[in-house]
Amino acid sequence: MTTKLLLERTCDIANKYLDGVRERRVGSLAEFGPLVQSLGGSLAAGPTEPLQVIEHLAETASQGLVATAGPRHFGLVIGGVLPAALAADWLASTWDQNAFSFVLSPAATAVEEVVRQWLLELLGLSPEMSMGIVTGGTMGNFTGLAAGRHMLLARAGWEVEEQGLFGAPEFAVLTSDESHMSVFASLQMLGLGRSRVTRIAADEQGRMRPDALREALSRLTTPALVCAQAGNVNTGAFDPLDAIAQLVHDAGGWLHVDGAFGAWAAASPALRHLAHGLSLADSVSVDGHKWLNVPYDCGFIFVRDQNAHQAAMMLEAAYYAPPRTPARANHHWVPEASRRSRGFAVYAALRSLGRTGLAELVERCSRLAQRFAERLSAAPNVRILNDVVLNQVLVRFEGANADARTAAVIRRAQDDGTCWVGGTTWHGMHVMRVSVSNWSTTESDVDRSAEAILRCAAMERS
Ligand SMILES: Cc1ncc(COP(=O)(O)O)c(C=O)c1O
Repeated sequence: MTTKLLLERTCDIANKYLDGVRERRVGSLAEFGPLVQSLGGSLAAGPTEPLQVIEHLAETASQGLVATAGPRHFGLVIGGVLPAALAADWLASTWDQNAFSFVLSPAATAVEEVVRQWLLELLGLSPEMSMGIVTGGTMGNFTGLAAGRHMLLARAGWEVEEQGLFGAPEFAVLTSDESHMSVFASLQMLGLGRSRVTRIAADEQGRMRPDALREALSRLTTPALVCAQAGNVNTGAFDPLDAIAQLVHDAGGWLHVDGAFGAWAAASPALRHLAHGLSLADSVSVDGHKWLNVPYDCGFIFVRDQNAHQAAMMLEAAYYAPPRTPARANHHWVPEASRRSRGFAVYAALRSLGRTGLAELVERCSRLAQRFAERLSAAPNVRILNDVVLNQVLVRFEGANADARTAAVIRRAQDDGTCWVGGTTWHGMHVMRVSVSNWSTTESDVDRSAEAILRCAAMERS
């Protein structure tokens, strides 16, 4: 079997999956043990024909696949994959380019510079900002906070990358009460401690309160690393970034903004007012695999002070061949050395959408979230708990025991398989979360999903 035939057969398998993904049950009912058993067993002593391997993998994995590439997965914040991005990602694997450096891949390096410029313009950020393409929002937060840590300690005369934190001058870390868990995970990895932070109170929509931040800053005797967010993971609400930036900078601090999905609002003329002040941040983390709808894994970190960014990610060795002519050094901006050339898929997504296509994608998903909220809240005893400003909807099924009822409706909806929605706790209440982030979701997908959810709710009542 030639590689050509293998890839053609694999392409057929992929196309068959994509043809069916719209009508496939969305969640998987597979159980871990049986799945491991059917995929595994002892490894054959000798080789197996590649096509046999792929056909077995495709057939066996199928039951354990979740249709996140389809239009009705509304859990977490999950994007799909734009066709151009998928195709470019196939090429990235085929070309097997290491995005580490120009010498290893001039094309991967040039494409990162191109998407840096495009993304900064689309998001209304300074064209001077440095950019790293990381695995996602978590590593984006990690990298931005590492740059902030560098800067605050460098100003105090301390080289944290050389000396570590042993005996370092103190600085404060302020997060919102509503910061995403990945901010705390990043702080934990940076030696800044997840519990040592001061959490600033948020309002009823989950927005950091500037008055509370002002008060916390006024009590400090050290500089502060402040983490705000554009897009609360539950409500989609934006921290008042302009007011926050002013306070942080007046106090000589570093402002990091977690804009995993919400930062894309800045690419829409109709929604960019929500992200007002984003351009004032010192570092901004944004996900690619969520709302930009490129394949996993992909995220971006943008940093205003290129020196701080580069110093925090310093990675040099004598055998890293330098380019013969000046070029972007991809490895200066990310925690990894060797890595996938994620830039190709980003390039293809942005080029295929264009400026208007990206704005339309963000606006369409936000309109569909409104529609979801309207459809669900038209039914008795269904309450929408958030202002649906973006793509997130929080739903509560009220009644005698609303927490248990909401949890039961979520379970039923997941079992039903028409769509997939998850749950969370919001202000002490169990709620259903709906996130509309997939490029292929239509009005009829929303109507069909809302009907399925309401059917589940009706069954729960009876
Ligand atoms: C606001 C926010 N920040 C960070 C993340 C983490 O992103 P990732 O899962 O890409 O690491 C998420 C994921 O949902 C998010 O919603």
